[in-house]
Amino acid sequence: MTYLITGGAGFIGSNFVKHMLSKYPEAKLIILDALTYAGNLGTLTEELKNPQITFIKGDICDRQVTEQLFSEHTIDYVVNFAAESHVDRSIENPQLFLQVNVLGTQNLLDTAKKYWTEGKDDNNYPVWRKGVKFLQVSTDEVYGSLGDEGYFTETTTLSPRSPYSAAKAGGDLIVQAYGETYKMPVNITRCSNNYGPYHFPEKLIPLIIKNILAGQQLPVYGNGSNVRDWLYVGDHCKAIDTVLHNGRIDEVYNIGGHNEKKNIDIVKLVIKTIHDIMENEPEYRKVLKKQEVLADGTTDISWINDNLISFVKDRQGHDQRYAIDPTKISSELGWLPETFFDKGIVKTIYWYLNNQEWVEEVTSGDYMKYYEQMYGNR
Ligand code: NAD
Ligand code: TYD
Repeated sequence: MTYLITGGAGFIGSNFVKHMLSKYPEAKLIILDALTYAGNLGTLTEELKNPQITFIKGDICDRQVTEQLFSEHTIDYVVNFAAESHVDRSIENPQLFLQVNVLGTQNLLDTAKKYWTEGKDDNNYPVWRKGVKFLQVSTDEVYGSLGDEGYFTETTTLSPRSPYSAAKAGGDLIVQAYGETYKMPVNITRCSNNYGPYHFPEKLIPLIIKNILAGQQLPVYGNGSNVRDWLYVGDHCKAIDTVLHNGRIDEVYNIGGHNEKKNIDIVKLVIKTIHDIMENEPEYRKVLKKQEVLADGTTDISWINDNLISFVKDRQGHDQRYAIDPTKISSELGWLPETFFDKGIVKTIYWYLNNQEWVEEVTSGDYMKYYEQMYGNR
């Protein structure tokens, strides 16, 4: 089987590539990624040595690129991760989000339609090659924001409130339209917030880890009471694999692990976990950018505490709460999350402590400029 994985050099896409390689060593994986600030080939150093992988640097919006790719390879599945993915950036530059998340998705769908169909049936519908499928990786944010009660199900009305989520909803709708209008075999997955290795440090958890290690303030938007429903990225990848191979055509599947946390509680947990690691395994103190040597020759860690927290101006239109009801994927396809948050977050923090080179590499470009612009006046 040949899989086209778009956005495979980003956070979830790269974790998915690693999952697929280890689970299906015979599969051919074609990665299409524009290598924006969020995509990094250093994330795939080992994988790119594997002859099963072909990497193409290109834009999902570029018809020439997608045509060439489909004409040169017999693709069976498309898994579309490629997107502009950060809400804060979407507030600054909404149009880019529409271009990539809506028009890029439509360009992929249209190219796939051209290469996956052979003539028309009696009712004028395209005849699709057997076994092909387009899976759109989407987000729970398309459902909008919840109050204290309730969960998003697959039948919850789409009500996006940020340019990012509006663009993702637009992408979902055009995928559904290809499913209805041309009978294209499609699935849409809508997952809650992911965390884990290779997460770009503009999102809450990796940004907090990076700032703690540097002894910098931890910017918490508003009063920190917003709730996100966190899922370990490896569990998300397994869910996508499950839907791709077993999901009923045209269906939407929500993915989540019933793990709601307030932002402020996450931040405090990360501070405490890093402090505990530094206390119990002093060899990790070398990773700290803030080095103050005490009289006894040890590195001071007493400053790793809640005083690092800084409540800053709230995000515009900040969604209050997300919470997924994953009953459909669990009962229909047997998927269940495997990594409990208390274990997953510790595993993630150790990953960052042990992979500071990766963090340096991905934040060496325009990151400081971005950080200053986004947080300078908050
Ligand atoms: P990411 O920003 O880390 O990665 C996105 C990748 O897409 C990058 O490698 C980037 O270079 C690439 N890309 C961007 N524009 C492109 C273009 N025009 N053409 C080709 N490649 C392009 O994002 P992520 O967190 O890995 O999210 C992946 C997908 O999962 C997105 O569609 C996102 O909406 C969805 N999602 C993310 C989360 C989450 O918590 N991160 C949760 C649910 C769904
Ligand atoms: P984020 O990781 O950007 O994901 P999303 O907005 O897609 O859910 O943010 C998660 C939550 O953390 C969200 O409520 C905004 C908040 N947040 C902060 O409080 N401070 C920060 O510096 C960032 C990046 C996010």
